[in-house]
Amino acid sequence: MIAATDIQVTKVEQSKLKDISLDNIPFGKYFSDHMLEADYIDGEWRNVEIKPYQSFLIEPSLSSIHYGQAIFEGIKAYRDAAGNVAIFRPYENFKRFNTSAERMCMPVVPEEIFIEGMKQLVEVDKNWIPSTKDHSLYIRPVMFSTDTALGVRPAETYKFFILLSPSGPYFAKPMKILVEEEYTRAAPGGVGFAKNAGNYGGSLIAAKKANAMGYDQVLWTDAFEHKWLQEVGMMNVMFVINDTAITPSLEEGTILKGVTRDSVLTLLKEMGLKVEERRINIDEVMEAYKNGALKEVFGTGTAATIAPIKELRYKDFVMSFDTDSWTIAPQAKKLLTEIHNGTAADRYNWLVKL
Ligand SMILES: Cc1ncc(COP(=O)(O)O)c(C=O)c1O
Repeated sequence: MIAATDIQVTKVEQSKLKDISLDNIPFGKYFSDHMLEADYIDGEWRNVEIKPYQSFLIEPSLSSIHYGQAIFEGIKAYRDAAGNVAIFRPYENFKRFNTSAERMCMPVVPEEIFIEGMKQLVEVDKNWIPSTKDHSLYIRPVMFSTDTALGVRPAETYKFFILLSPSGPYFAKPMKILVEEEYTRAAPGGVGFAKNAGNYGGSLIAAKKANAMGYDQVLWTDAFEHKWLQEVGMMNVMFVINDTAITPSLEEGTILKGVTRDSVLTLLKEMGLKVEERRINIDEVMEAYKNGALKEVFGTGTAATIAPIKELRYKDFVMSFDTDSWTIAPQAKKLLTEIHNGTAADRYNWLVKL
């Protein structure tokens, strides 16, 4: 077994930080000085090291680019006013990463590498955590297969790595969302609950079509009737109907088990709302809109935290919202942000301090 102390650390001679301003930084464009890397060879994880951010040398026969064994995660680290650093609920991402690994016939990554390695890496690059409002250090763990031979089968070798990217908000403005009826993201028995790279490649065409129509993203629907709602692009979705927040349930295995989804459900209960995890279809949403019961619709995700939806379109029916008058999504976002920033008590033990 690899102990956290076994991680070899090689530091850069000079930080790139002097050339980059961390204020108003876009999402995912810049990477910190260091990365973590590990190799899975002969049935065990080896060569765990933190080293200067650098390229990989890959062979054209690399199995993951042919057959798609590639998974990832997205996590955030925050700094409080006193300078203490905390990572938000990384154990949830650790579990989900290994759920994705099992679905894709990849080896699990042990806690000593995923969690302890991540903590050590963030410690090394903690100066990269922005202090600006709505900014944080985005953490991207990835695993891909590295066999160099053709043939569809689970690979025998893999690489795991973690990148750090100081980032601003993903969706800075309320979103316009199109309900997708042509393309399918996930069906029962598929890979919708896994965070494998192919899910994102497969989703691009729908987002591209939506963008051309003036929308930011699509709201995915089920594969059979295109009526049952799943999730939005990189976010789970919640509908506030009267005093109940409703979000699609997980049991069909067609949506990602969002860490923000779970956190926001907890905070909404704290705010006194009823919450329901169940199947919900577009007819119910349109009916609630028509009779004034649909109060708010928003997405939840690590990158965007809570993103209000100002327009939701199904066929020719457009539901528009005055998001400035909303109270629930802004209050939930405030409570979540206060926990992130350490200005409120971490009452659910969500923060893992360095
Ligand atoms: C497809 C999809 N759904 C939902 C989410 C939200 O999950 P989380 O709140 O864990 O970031 C994400 C982002 O990771 C996603 O990519």
